Amino acid sequence: MRVSGTATVLLCVLSLWVEASLADTPANCTYEDLLGTWVFQVSTGGHNKSINCSNEATGVKTVTFTLEKPASALDEVASIGFFTIIYNQGFEVVINNYKWFAFFKYTTEGQIVTSYCDQTLPGWVHDVLGNSWACFVAKRVEPIPPRSAVDSLQQRLLAHRLFQPPHKTNTDFIDSINSVQSSWTAAYYSDHEKYSQKDWYYRAGGPASRIPVRVRPAPLTEGMAKQASLPRSWDWRDVYGSNYISPVRNQGACGSCYSFAAMGMLEARIRITTNNSQAPILSPQQVVSCSHYSQGCDGGFPYLIGKYVQDFGVVEESCLPYEGEVTLCRIPRSCGRLYTAEYSYVGGYYGGCSEAAMMQELLYNGPFAVSFEVYPDFRYYKGGIYHHTGLLDATDPFELTNHAVLLVGYGRCNKTGQKYWVVKNSWGTAWGEKGFFRIRRGTDECAIESIGVGAIPIQAL
Ligand SMILES: *[C@@H]1O[C@H](CO)[C@@H](O)[C@H](O)[C@H]1NC(C)=O
Ligand SMILES: *[C@@H]1O[C@H](CO)[C@@H](O)[C@H](O)[C@H]1NC(C)=O
Ligand SMILES: *[C@@H]1O[C@H](CO)[C@@H](O)[C@H](O)[C@H]1NC(C)=O
Ligand SMILES: *[C@@H]1O[C@H](CO)[C@@H](O)[C@H](O)[C@H]1NC(C)=O
Ligand SMILES: *[C@@H]1O[C@H](CO)[C@@H](O)[C@H](O)[C@H]1NC(C)=O
Repeated sequence: MRVSGTATVLLCVLSLWVEASLADTPANCTYEDLLGTWVFQVSTGGHNKSINCSNEATGVKTVTFTLEKPASALDEVASIGFFTIIYNQGFEVVINNYKWFAFFKYTTEGQIVTSYCDQTLPGWVHDVLGNSWACFVAKRVEPIPPRSAVDSLQQRLLAHRLFQPPHKTNTDFIDSINSVQSSWTAAYYSDHEKYSQKDWYYRAGGPASRIPVRVRPAPLTEGMAKQASLPRSWDWRDVYGSNYISPVRNQGACGSCYSFAAMGMLEARIRITTNNSQAPILSPQQVVSCSHYSQGCDGGFPYLIGKYVQDFGVVEESCLPYEGEVTLCRIPRSCGRLYTAEYSYVGGYYGGCSEAAMMQELLYNGPFAVSFEVYPDFRYYKGGIYHHTGLLDATDPFELTNHAVLLVGYGRCNKTGQKYWVVKNSWGTAWGEKGFFRIRRGTDECAIESIGVGAIPIQAL
């Protein structure tokens, strides 16, 4: 059974992110911090999803959950549920038909961030049908000392280096890429120069998409591949002649890749389940303008879009066309909405991803969102099987970001035997292989095998 995530967080996250975006310093907590027994103090129940958790008194009642490796939540009478950490920011628990979600508590003081990884900010709980909302705060029974850290390089670099004029392409860099390896080719793109360094930072993920703790995926063994009877190659753009992938789009200079990846997944999966008889284009702008689970053009995480779409639904492109900047959230009442039945990390929980789990998810459920680290050489990719060359462009003070994209296939090169993934980017059709790229498979290239997120759309009747 797939364990689904949930949907809860609207209002409180809004206030949290206002705070977070001022300081850009979220909590940095780990999976180990989360393991153990937690007391959840709950407010009165029975609210709808417009509840504002900054106003609700918690502590009307308490429940106790124990979180155990790898992903089990247990209550006091030993009912078994599920939990996952969400990156380093918060966690979700699903047990006894309720879904609990909260961010870890943190404070900021100037450049210093203090994470309280044994406590949460006010979070949201509702039943698995999205009814009966309440608020809660949780506290680990065994305390963990607060951890303070100077806010890392990001902010300083943002301030000093990234807000520079357009970056002129360094053709020597392109030549070096092409001379040190022959697996992929780099090319000059004239339209690259219309983007500033800051724009590139946003195109490749943005400040809110960084992933500070890299998890190592499990390797694929030949036995696993055989057991799952996975075909040698698969491509949702050509399944016995049918294409199930919606057109490639261009995110512009907004850090909305996570929204394009998630919408591309839902679009493809609707095409697959309806044999291409329904082919809506969904609104990535809605997530940018309306979701309080993510940070607009600053970035976000596909897992929390699965959650947003489950709670609030997403409209078609024509109802809220893409603008590439944060606009007012105005959606005509007449617009229908599509929802997700479930969403989850590939492999079941954050940290459970692997090449085999990705291949299975792709075959059984369709394309899904993955994230990977973007180095400067990637920008110039024109074709072939990408791997990071290790080369850096001396003229480009880059920042490592995490870019969300859509996995659509995999294969193996006949000549060299090299395995690869096929991935849809959101940088327009002129980039790469008609907007797609291939990247090494089986070696966690640029961390692309460490996070996959799948969501199941509910198809219209
Ligand atoms: C949600 O609850 C609030 C406050 O109880 C109420 O004013 C509002 O009408 C409710 N909304 C819906 C859609 O039921
Ligand atoms: C929630 O309540 C707080 C405190 O009253 C208020 O400042 C905030 O604006 C409210 N949020 C929303 C979305 O209404
Ligand atoms: C978060 O904490 C981990 C170790 O717990 C550390 O390696 C990492 O650098 C930290 N990240 C940030 C952004 O502070
Ligand atoms: C799916 O669509 C294709 C192309 O239109 C058609 O040939 C095929 O029969 C359809 N399959 C089913 C199960 O309806
Ligand atoms: C690779 O080899 C397979 C099996 O021999 C063949 O079906 C396929 O067409 C080849 N692909 C390319 C791109 O040559």
